[in-house]
Amino acid sequence: MENEEQIKEMVKQKYSEIALQDKELNQSSCCGSGTCSTEVYNIMSDDYTHLEGYDPNADLGLGCGLPTQFAKIKKGDVVVDLGSGAGNDCFIARAETGDTGKVIGIDFTPAMIEKARVNAEKLGFNNVEFRQGDIEKMPMTANVADVVVSNCVLNLVPNKKAVFHEIMRVLKNGGHFSISDIVLTGSLPEKIQSAAEMYAGCVASAIDKSEYLGYIKEAGFKNITLQKEKPIIVPDDILKDYLSEEEIKIYKSHPTVIFSITVYAEKPAECCSPKSGCC
Ligand SMILES: C[S@@+](CC[C@H](N)C(=O)[O-])C[C@H]1O[C@@H](n2cnc3c(N)ncnc32)[C@H](O)[C@@H]1O
Repeated sequence: MENEEQIKEMVKQKYSEIALQDKELNQSSCCGSGTCSTEVYNIMSDDYTHLEGYDPNADLGLGCGLPTQFAKIKKGDVVVDLGSGAGNDCFIARAETGDTGKVIGIDFTPAMIEKARVNAEKLGFNNVEFRQGDIEKMPMTANVADVVVSNCVLNLVPNKKAVFHEIMRVLKNGGHFSISDIVLTGSLPEKIQSAAEMYAGCVASAIDKSEYLGYIKEAGFKNITLQKEKPIIVPDDILKDYLSEEEIKIYKSHPTVIFSITVYAEKPAECCSPKSGCC
């Protein structure tokens, strides 16, 4: 496949298109048409509408879990959302931190940052900020965040290991993260793996669950807890865009390999091992 920079450019381009598209048009042109990357999300996204702070303008249906549900956000906390999109989880987090906290969304797609800023302005929030940057190298100083959240983003990032080291760096000692993401428990057919649409739709670049959890451990996190795990069943009308009938049969005869997970972990309160890279 492409090199890491090419992958990132492709992801940026896809999310730029999604950000610039009208939400209604986005849904009607993508659902079932099999030509747009949002096709996969419609299977994965959880219902946000009941959550305090929910803003329909920020919900582009791009998540694959509810990371804030397990993020233990308190009033006054500094929360960082990785790959914040139009701000969906940032505004939920803002409802929990209140006026005294701060929420920082990071995203590398300029059109998403713009959309999120417009949403924040409409809501009149002066403590929700959006920064353009790559989460492999976050535009943040060290030891500033109480909580890091992220929803369906790390699967798109070529260097996941770097992201977990960055999370360790920006969290305060004793801080924690709650991340919803897509992982695999086996291998995907090569055609799905290499399909660009599937890639930008979170599936093709997802890695094995044990490798994913291994990166978290390696970065020095403690109390790593799998809060939620949900199998993702890809419907036939999507599979048929990538696989022949025979291949679909074979694919479906194996156990589900695509999962949405929400994982929680803590940065140690005394974090001074040079190995963990956090002091
Ligand atoms: C699937 S969308 C999720 C958006 C948002 N979290 C939500 O649930 O609505 C992925 C987002 O991550 C961003 N993204 C992907 N890779 C990134 C990276 N390396 N650094 C920063 N943002 C990234 C994309 O621009 C896109 O907005």
